[in-house]
Amino acid sequence: MLKVVRTRDYDDMSRKAANVISAQVILKPDSVLGLATGSTPLGIYRTLIGWYQKGDLDFAHVRSVNLDEYQGLPREHDQSYYYFMNENFFKHINIDPEQTHLPDGMNMDAEGECARYHQVVESMGGIDLQLLGIGNNGHIGFNEPAEDFAERVHCVELTESTIRANARFFASEADVPRYAYTMGIGEIMSAKRVLIVASGKAKAPILRDLIHGPVTPHVPASILKFHPDATLIADEDALSLV
Ligand code: F6R
Repeated sequence: MLKVVRTRDYDDMSRKAANVISAQVILKPDSVLGLATGSTPLGIYRTLIGWYQKGDLDFAHVRSVNLDEYQGLPREHDQSYYYFMNENFFKHINIDPEQTHLPDGMNMDAEGECARYHQVVESMGGIDLQLLGIGNNGHIGFNEPAEDFAERVHCVELTESTIRANARFFASEADVPRYAYTMGIGEIMSAKRVLIVASGKAKAPILRDLIHGPVTPHVPASILKFHPDATLIADEDALSLV
C-alpha cells in the first residue's frame, strides 16, 4: 500500500516531508537516512537546515547513504551528486562527513564499485528512512524502466529521456554522463520506511500511472506499492490527474 499525502504546493510538500524526516531523527538520533538528489528534495533540505540552525534538530549521530552518483564525474564537479549533497545539505548541518556515503563516481571499475557500495549499504544495518524522487518515466534512483527489477547496486546506462532531462545542468547534452551507479530496487525496498516526493504538473502523468496502474518494472516506482511503509507526498499539480 502506498499512502498518499496531498499538499497545496511545493513548499507545503517540502515542509511535510521535512517533518517526517525530522520526526525520524528525533525519535532515533542514530538513524540511517537514505538520501536523494534532484530538484524535488531541495526544499526539504532547506527546511531541515533551518530547523537545525534553530537548534531543533541534531544530525551528529545520523548516518546517510545516497541513492546514486554519475560515473566519471569528480567530486568537485558541480553536477556530481557528492557536490550536490555537500552544497545543499551536509555542509550546513552537523552530520559527520565520514558517516555520509555515496557511490564513488570516479571508480571506473563498475563491478568493483557496485560490490563495494552494496557492502556499504549492508554495513549500515538497514536504512531507517529512504527519501526518493520520481523521474518523469517512473525511475527511482537511476533504476530506469526495464524488463525486470534490479536487485542490487548496479551501473546503468542512462536512457535518452533522462539524458535530455539532465542536459540543462551541463554545458551541452554531449557532456551529460552516460552511466551512473545506483542502488537497486532490492536495497530500496529493504528500507524500513520509504518517502517519495513529487511536485509540479510534469509529474502528473507518471503519478497517475503509479497510483492507478499495475506494479511493473516499466514503472520502477510502482514496486513501492508492495512496500509495507511507503508514503507519497505530492502537491496538487503533481496529483492533478489522480
Ligand atoms: C536523484 C535520483 C532521481 C531523482 C529523479 C527526480 O538522486 O535518484 O531518481 O529523484 O530523477 O528528479 P527531480 O526531483 O529533479 O524531478
